[in-house]
Amino acid sequence: MPTKKYIIANWKMNLSLAQTISLAKEFKKEFAGFSRGEIAVCPSALFLTEAAAIFKGSAIKLGAQNASWENKGAYTGEISADMLSDVGCRYVILGHSERRKYLFENYEMIHKKVRAVLEIENLTPIVCIGESIEEKKSDRRDFVLVDQLQQALSGIDVFGEQEIIVAYEPIWAIGTGMAIEPAEAEYAHKIIKLALNDMFGMQVNNKNFRIIYGGSINAQNVKGFTNLENMDGLLVGGASLKAEEFYKIAQTITK
Ligand code: PGA
Repeated sequence: MPTKKYIIANWKMNLSLAQTISLAKEFKKEFAGFSRGEIAVCPSALFLTEAAAIFKGSAIKLGAQNASWENKGAYTGEISADMLSDVGCRYVILGHSERRKYLFENYEMIHKKVRAVLEIENLTPIVCIGESIEEKKSDRRDFVLVDQLQQALSGIDVFGEQEIIVAYEPIWAIGTGMAIEPAEAEYAHKIIKLALNDMFGMQVNNKNFRIIYGGSINAQNVKGFTNLENMDGLLVGGASLKAEEFYKIAQTITK
């Protein structure tokens, strides 16, 4: 069973160029010598090159917050998975609920994006799924999670060492300061694990898939998320904007 934890920082659209450079440098310093888990940072696409130059020679990997489902052509404003790989990205967040909500990303787009990213060697998709507060209140969470997984991943072939990270991010927990109860996250991860078993078989699931949690994780509440079953790491938004706090989170979850 894999024990390596993935701790992914999602800086969203929060930082200027100068702030990105300065925080990237702080991260590099903070994580010098850290080898207990996989650390990735997803800055704005506009500043990936600057961040890549700073992270060079460190263990911090670079990630993007989105990718196009097309690889090339007349798609004004889009950025292809190939281009992301070109500037050194190893991870791409796909189907984040903020994009589903504000950019109207639908199931088909997300499915096509996963396919496009998997075509690029050494690029790992981080596929976000999660229920809304209404879905939670009406006890539809399990169905919603399985449905979103199937819509994103059905019919996808996973070869060799290819990794796919599924990020369970309850929409009501993102940016609200209200993280999920750890036991509830563990239950949701179990549902995801079982659904992936059904879709890909246990062997492929264990080898190629990872399940991480995201939503209002901080240096205090992270303690509750250690030692949970099927908890392969964390996707962190707000608390990743402070190098020291993100480092504490990474340290705690990898203990
Ligand atoms: P948050 O964001 O940690 O600020 O809740 C998580 C995310 O959106 O990935």
